[in-house]
Amino acid sequence: MAAALAACGTAKEAGDKKDTVKKKKSGPLSIALLLPEDQTARYEKFDRRLITKHVKELCADCTVHYANAKSDVAGQQQQMDSMITKGVDVIILDAVDSKSAAGSVKKADKAGIPVVAYDRLAEGPVSAYTSFDNEEVGKVQGRALLKALGAKAGDGEIVMLNGWEADPNSASYKKGALSVLEGKVKIGKSYDVDRWLAEKANENMAGAISSLGKDKIIGVYAANDNMAGGAITALKSGGVDPLPPVTGQDAELAGVQRVLSGDQYMSVYKPYEPEAAAAAEMAIALGRGAKVDAAGTVDSPTTKGIPATLITPIALTKENVKDTIVKDGLWPVDKICTAKYAAACRAAGLK
Ligand code: GAL
Repeated sequence: MAAALAACGTAKEAGDKKDTVKKKKSGPLSIALLLPEDQTARYEKFDRRLITKHVKELCADCTVHYANAKSDVAGQQQQMDSMITKGVDVIILDAVDSKSAAGSVKKADKAGIPVVAYDRLAEGPVSAYTSFDNEEVGKVQGRALLKALGAKAGDGEIVMLNGWEADPNSASYKKGALSVLEGKVKIGKSYDVDRWLAEKANENMAGAISSLGKDKIIGVYAANDNMAGGAITALKSGGVDPLPPVTGQDAELAGVQRVLSGDQYMSVYKPYEPEAAAAAEMAIALGRGAKVDAAGTVDSPTTKGIPATLITPIALTKENVKDTIVKDGLWPVDKICTAKYAAACRAAGLK
């Protein structure tokens, strides 16, 4: 994992900030938690709950002030302003748009409030960062797609449905995926899908089918499950049969069910617990004016040497649903294995 972190950088900006940060060695802290959207299940169902749980475990008296920006950039700026006005001790920020977040991060810094960038690396003087190794996410998706294509990789074209470009992770996923796919398979069409929306992915996929021709498409790189769902609906209504392998990410319930039934080839399982635990630890350390414990450092376009802990993602296919997400309790078997998926569940050893 450490190898994936940029070890370079002078740590200047990140290092210098310490002196401006409020020191609150003991007593309850008030912690702002700002998440970016609510269409991907992870934020409301996992990240919010797990971060709050870890904060409470480390500091029972600490309070968490929560807001979800619902993909609205200006809305998140207002949420940042209101947390700064409230005088919280530290902010955990998963930015809707990493570039636009820079102004708010600067304001917080001026007010002596450290910011932990969560999952997406906000620009501006953030004090720490935790996420997954996002280039590795893209590589995991790309490798899986090549594996699914096997000897057919040269027989047609793939369509890439990349994440929203305002999210810095999208560029990392794409870069990782391209590093594996380029030279091995022809990319017929590539889209940066607006706001990660399933309906936009559906439109883009329908466009690709009509311009490339339904018999040419041998695979689909979809950056997350939400978009994979939209793409699969378009493939089905466009008469693409059999369905080509489609990738995804997030181990969403519907995504896991599609992986089991075979409609979607794979997803990426990102264990949220260690990411949430790292964010809680970082926030409390910073709120207390203590040093952040991180595995390495990363650089953002504006800030060098940000202490960072990156978690390793896991490829999720039919074969390992049982030993990964079911074992870790992400989704209970009863939720996954509804009547429609009974046979697929039995085949995967789930029921
Ligand atoms: C990314 C995040 C993914 C997915 C996506 C859509 O930044 O890492 O897990 O949720 O946004 O919101």
